[in-house]
Parts: sequence; structure tokens; C-alpha cells
Amino acid sequence: MANDDLIRLRGGKPLIGEIHLRGAKNTVPKNMVAALLTDEPVIIRDVPKIEDVDIMTRLFQRMGVEVEEVRPGTLQIIAKKMKLPTRSDLVDITGRSRIPILTAGPLLYRFGKALVPKLGGCNIGPRPVDFHVKALRELGASYDENEENGVFKAKGLRGAKIILEYPSVGATEQVILSSVLADGQTELHNAAVEPEIMDLIALLQKMGAIISVDTDRTIYVEGVKKLGGATHSAMPDRIEAASWACAALGTNGRILVRGARQLDMMTFLNKFHQIGGGFEVNRDGITFYREQETLSPITVETDVHPGFMTDWQQPMVVVLTQAEGRSVVHETVYESRFGYTSELNRMGAKIKLFEESPEMIKSKFGKRNYRQSAQIDGPTKLHGSEMTVPDLRAGFSYIVAALIADGESTIHGFSVLQRGYEHLVAKLQSLEANILEVKA
Ligand code: EPU
Repeated sequence: MANDDLIRLRGGKPLIGEIHLRGAKNTVPKNMVAALLTDEPVIIRDVPKIEDVDIMTRLFQRMGVEVEEVRPGTLQIIAKKMKLPTRSDLVDITGRSRIPILTAGPLLYRFGKALVPKLGGCNIGPRPVDFHVKALRELGASYDENEENGVFKAKGLRGAKIILEYPSVGATEQVILSSVLADGQTELHNAAVEPEIMDLIALLQKMGAIISVDTDRTIYVEGVKKLGGATHSAMPDRIEAASWACAALGTNGRILVRGARQLDMMTFLNKFHQIGGGFEVNRDGITFYREQETLSPITVETDVHPGFMTDWQQPMVVVLTQAEGRSVVHETVYESRFGYTSELNRMGAKIKLFEESPEMIKSKFGKRNYRQSAQIDGPTKLHGSEMTVPDLRAGFSYIVAALIADGESTIHGFSVLQRGYEHLVAKLQSLEANILEVKA
């Protein structure tokens, strides 16, 4: 394979030790976008070294925005001088990250125009941006697109009543970032209320925004004339925390995840405990381990917050291959987020996919026939194998599977994991994983 980046692991050894979480992949780059709404310095702490942060840094620098790592893990962003990105600025960014479309609001305020890269689909579903476009139109922008880019234009944005068809995380962030400086009040109904969104709101509040969240998923944004600088520590990555928790449970190890917060992970912890995982919450983080010798099957459905996150599903499915009995995992957020299970079956798992499941409660996809339910029969022995990472979270689940399996596994496309897992090799080494080879 050309340019083959891979990791080769030998399984069968418990992961033991501790790792430290930094700011969440799904928060930090959005906090960076908030910094474009002011010409004063915004300082973001706990910034992880991951690709989404690199992409935004690169984009900002091309736009003339100062981005400086003033201390390790602390970024200072000053958007005093800013210019519209050109098409060529976006070429190597197009299709690589979902974040750049969130620059639409800040660019519209400064220039009345925003050029954003098209995002494209990926291995977990088509992931369109129609909610973003519809919401921005409601705030007063027009939208056109060509093959690579989307172009928004507006002569000033004005507050509006917007109803999201589905509580999309990105579309909620889009509306917030585009309405904080709008003329008048914005009412966003059926908004997503993930902790990552609350983190963005917290930063914007420090910058002078007036945003309130009602009990019924309605977010009210009172437009203000100007925002100022602020300093903010990004929330720790609760997806990464859950990934390591599953690695500890699956390998019968014990991992202290420094920085993990119980309140962000309650739904996960309930399921983790039902399977047979133990956890101790301490001041520094959460220690995850196996409490029951025989793991128990569960039924779980992914959902928007406060439901079970879709990004927690993949490493947990691997753990469920070790539980005694039948588990059902039902995906309701993405159309096709179980593609990775065929590799697990090649390793010895017994996972069947169904379009519907008896346990199915609700689905945003209605009658469209997606294979949304995974039925996992366990326990099954997993054997080392060779596989290619299809997407970020599935990639981590292959790591967990390889660590549980007997024998050697080779995971190609390992660099995809750098999009969301900081210092992954170093962390695996510190947890005493048996790493045989890494090719970057
Ligand atoms: N959707 C639309 N139209 C839109 C926007 C979304 O149909 O305009 C659909 C999506 O296709 C998907 C569902 O709505 O089926 C939910 O999408 P959402 O907008 O909530 O997701 P996102 O903002 O694109 C973020 C995370 C994802 C995470 C989801 C759900 C970032 C950068 N990404 O994506 O994280 O799965 O929220 O919590 O914040 C990951 O970290 O690996 C990852 C995929």
C-alpha cells in the first residue's frame, strides 16, 4: 500500500496506567471560531494537538488572523486583521473537517460575504449541511455553491425564529455563532444542547454575548453590538474518555483518565456499569476498570444529549463482543455507522446488522431502510487481523479490538486517528500496550 501509515499491535495484555485528557476535539475548534467575532485577543487553554485544530489554525493564518501558541497547549487568537479566504486558501481544507462552515457567521459580519469549503459525505452517512444553509437564510443570508465551495452573502444578519428539523450539533452552533452579533433576538427551537455547545456558549458569554437555554431545547440569543476578548479552558474530551474506559473494560485493565468529568458522562457510565465496568470518580478524573468477571449484555440506543452519544457506540460494541449473551445497539444519529463491524466479524465477533430492531424506540430516519441496529452475540474470542480505519471512532474501536484479540493486528490508515486522539501512540505506550510497529 502506498504511503501506508499503520500500527501493529499484539493483544491480550491489560491496559494499565493513566492518561490525561485535554480540550475536546468537538469543542476547541469551535471556540477558535468564536474568536473571529472580536478583534480583541481570545485565549484558549487545554488545546490538543489534533488535526482539526491544525486545519483551523492554517485557515485562520491564511485569513490574516494571528494564531500563536503562547504556552504549550494555550492558543492566543487575535482576529484584528482578517481577510476573506480565497478559493485557493480552501483547496487543501475542502472535505477534511466539518468546522470551516462555522466561519460563515463571523465572515458575514466582517465582509458581508463568506466563502466556505464544501464538506462532503463520509463513511458514516452523507452528512449534509442543509440545516446550516436554511438557518443562515432565515437570518438573512443568501447561499450559492459551486463544486468546491459554498458562498453566503448578507447585508447584515437579523434575529429570526428558527426551528431545526433535528437537534443538529453543528447547525445549533452555526445559529449561535451567526446570531450573537445579529440585529435583534434569535429564537432557536429544537436546538442541540450537548455539553460541547454549552462550552461554546460559556466562552461567548465571557466575550459579552447574551444567550439563554430554555428547558424545552429552545436557545435565545439577544444580539449585541460588539464582543470582546476572553480566556477560556475548553471542556475535556468526553468521547476520548469513554474510548479509554472501553479499552480498560475490554482488556481487563485499569485506566485513570485524568480530566474526565462524571457529569458529562452520566449516560455512558450507566451503560458501562450495567455491562460490568467499575469506575471511581476522584478529584483528578475517573478510574475505569472491570468490576464483573463475566460481562453482561445491554440494549442501548444512541441519541442527542442527554442520550447515549453516537461517538461512544463503537468501542462499546467491541466490549459487547465479550459480554455473555445478546446485546442490541441501535444507532439513530447517523445513517450508516456500523460499517466497521464487518472487520470485527472477520476477527471472530458475531455481529448482525438489521434495518429495524424490536427494541427500536424512535429514529430520525423514519422508514428509510438503513441498517441501523447491531445485534451482538457474545462472548466471542477475537483474533488478530489486518484492517483499515474507515473513520475516527471506528478506528479507535479497532485499536480496542486489537488489544483484546489474541495475536497480532495491523491497523492501516492509523493517521486518521490523529484527527481526534492526541498523542495516541504515547498514551498507548504509557498504558503498556504491546505495540510492535508504528509507521507515520
Ligand atoms: N444533519 C443533516 N443536515 C445538517 C446537519 C446535520 O441532515 O445540516 C444530520 C447529520 O447528517 C446527522 C445528524 O443530522 O445524521 C446529526 O448531525 P450533527 O449536525 O448533530 O453532527 P455534526 O455537528 O456534524 C458533531 C460532531 C460529531 C458527532 C455529532 C453528533 C463535530 C466536529 N462533530 O457533528 O462527531 O457525532 O456532532 O453528536 O463536532 C466525531 O467526533 O467523530 C464526530 C463524528
